[in-house]
Amino acid sequence: MTDTFKFPKNFLWGGAISAYQAEGGNINSDYEVWGNKKGIEVAGKACDHYNRFREDIGIAKSLNHNIFRFSIEWARIEPEEGKFDRHELDHYKQVLQEIKKRGMKSVVTLYHFTLPNWVAEIGGWENPEAGSYFERYVNYIVDNLGDLMDYIITINEPFVYCLHAYLLDDLSPAKKNLTKLFKVLYTLIRVHKEVYIQIKDKVKIPIGYSKNVPYITALDKRNVFDKLMAKFLNYIFNGITLQKLSKSTDFIGLQYYNIARIKFKPGGDHLHLFNEWGLEEVERGKGVTDMGWEIYPKGIYYVLKRLKKYDLPILVTENGLADKSDKYRKDFIKNHLINVHRAISEGVNVIGYLHWSLLDNFEWKEGKSKRFGLIEIDYKNRFKRKVRSSSKYYSKIAECGFLEVYNS
Ligand code: BGC
Repeated sequence: MTDTFKFPKNFLWGGAISAYQAEGGNINSDYEVWGNKKGIEVAGKACDHYNRFREDIGIAKSLNHNIFRFSIEWARIEPEEGKFDRHELDHYKQVLQEIKKRGMKSVVTLYHFTLPNWVAEIGGWENPEAGSYFERYVNYIVDNLGDLMDYIITINEPFVYCLHAYLLDDLSPAKKNLTKLFKVLYTLIRVHKEVYIQIKDKVKIPIGYSKNVPYITALDKRNVFDKLMAKFLNYIFNGITLQKLSKSTDFIGLQYYNIARIKFKPGGDHLHLFNEWGLEEVERGKGVTDMGWEIYPKGIYYVLKRLKKYDLPILVTENGLADKSDKYRKDFIKNHLINVHRAISEGVNVIGYLHWSLLDNFEWKEGKSKRFGLIEIDYKNRFKRKVRSSSKYYSKIAECGFLEVYNS
């Protein structure tokens, strides 16, 4: 017996990367400067995508991807306040032209966790001026490159950025300050809304933002305290951003990685639970990625169903795992896609799926050791690219627009 899961016609299939994590040479980005000062691993040459973008887009095309997500590094475009670099602008023009030439579509992220260092030096997003600097940069990009783009993501994961930068200590400026966390979150929400209005009429393409939506649920479904706590944390982590931006976006960029099973602990530091993802309760080592995250494909179905009420198209802009040996990736892709399919068949408007990541890259505080790529990078051998076996499986699905599962 074979079950066939057929995806809608024109469904988008692809992979995603971000500039700082993949390009290399982002010396004016705040993470690079901050990380070097702290003495932690920084992206450095990353996977040299800046010089090899043609090769990478070519591999994606050969794997039947019809869309490619990347980000523009603000620090390259405007390395000093008010000084815009035409040469770097031209670089991204070439990237967009390459995508077009290959007959693929683009998703362009304008801010993916890293600021120009000069913005960080004046206080980053805490500085009331930062929003207008960002708007000026975005308008510059859209005025010059907008006609080559297909989808725009203004800000990648506003809440996740705030959580890591203002509580978990692993994104610049790494301050532990809850008041600032929420202040910056509200700033990013406001900035998205303003940018959305400003560029909407300039480009006639969908503009959205991306949101990491973990499936947050009570550890014990019969425990009223666990349930209330899960509801509360779901509001903080997901609800605030989703609700506030639901009228200022053309689509939701969904990024799904985790289930968080919430156990109410009186006096416990619940925001830190996001670091644990409830793993204490799960048998470690079983279906767990190299990041220690539990693999829970049904979660993407539940999350998609929760997003249905916003009545917006949903593009899965990230879903993936660190799996150096490629042991779980094939089943991971298969099982997540089956759940995406289930949500579609129940009326959720999902328009595409982009795997994180196209390439092994710099995984923030984990450095280059965690391998998320459909394509493996040999850092010791001139950044040689090697297509992982799971990506051939994904390529077949992208080619046919359906996947088949044999049941014995
Ligand atoms: C981020 C990526 C990151 C991935 C895996 C996402 O939340 O957008 O930059 O590499 O998670 O941790």
